[in-house]
Amino acid sequence: MFKRLRGIRCKNSIQQDDNNLEKELMRQLDLSRLPAHVAIIMDGNGRWATKKGMPRSFGHRAGVKSLREVVKLCVELKLKHLTVYAFSTENWKRPREEINILMNLLVEYLYKEIDELCANNVRINPMGIISELPEHAREAVTMAVRKSENNTGLVFNVALNYGGRAELIKAAKEIGQKLVDGELTIDEINEQEIARHLYTAGQPDPDLLIRPSGDYRVSNFLLWQLAYTEFWLTDTMWPDFGRKELLQALLDYQRRERRFGGLLHN
Ligand code: IPE
Ligand code: IPE
Ligand code: MG
Repeated sequence: MFKRLRGIRCKNSIQQDDNNLEKELMRQLDLSRLPAHVAIIMDGNGRWATKKGMPRSFGHRAGVKSLREVVKLCVELKLKHLTVYAFSTENWKRPREEINILMNLLVEYLYKEIDELCANNVRINPMGIISELPEHAREAVTMAVRKSENNTGLVFNVALNYGGRAELIKAAKEIGQKLVDGELTIDEINEQEIARHLYTAGQPDPDLLIRPSGDYRVSNFLLWQLAYTEFWLTDTMWPDFGRKELLQALLDYQRRERRFGGLLHN
């Protein structure tokens, strides 16, 4: 009995510490200097679950919870753009069963969350080759886009069957077609023209890229857009990533010195 009570008290006090830390982080954050665009590689679900002796699908489900929390905080902070990497063009290499689980989770997430996302004025912008997704996933994405298209708050880019190289190939083909059609001359191909043909057209490049799970690579994410993005890497696995971690990343970002190849002016 005593042991149990002590356990409960311990859990409560950890929760209390967490709340206090979150409040302190929030207090330190300068709301006038938030990044306009945050990108996240939601990685580590499988390893997180395996470590607990659970199937990888358990980790993917837990990962959805993290996503929900992060989106909620982005809305609270009035962030303008959030991009999350949900499924890459290389993730098709995984076993059929895991792919099915991921697609089902995506569909479940979109139908369950769409009303709350809309209530929070979030606009969903899918990035990637959506036509190659299974039919029920395509339908869910189409529904989410349609329902949220007039929202003017957070732009929530969801990278699905997304690859940075595939995105650049798409841009190259569209620009090539414009050349063939005489709508563009070679000299008119510049950074702005390329950016216009990316899934992030009209949006600022990410200021901050977050990658959990202890891997230090971009895994074919936003190859063009990350040119001058600040990276924030953590060993925390995505299912353990929450408000505290996002606040820590944002605070760390505010301490960075961005030079964009130039010199700092006083
Ligand atoms: C991220 O977690 C989810 C997707 C890539 C879809 P992982 O499934 O890659 O988890 P790890 O990296 O194997 O732990
Ligand atoms: C990147 O994670 C893709 C997503 C999070 C959707 P991966 O797990 O696929 O990346 P690698 O294979 O470790 O580079
Ligand atoms: Mg991974």
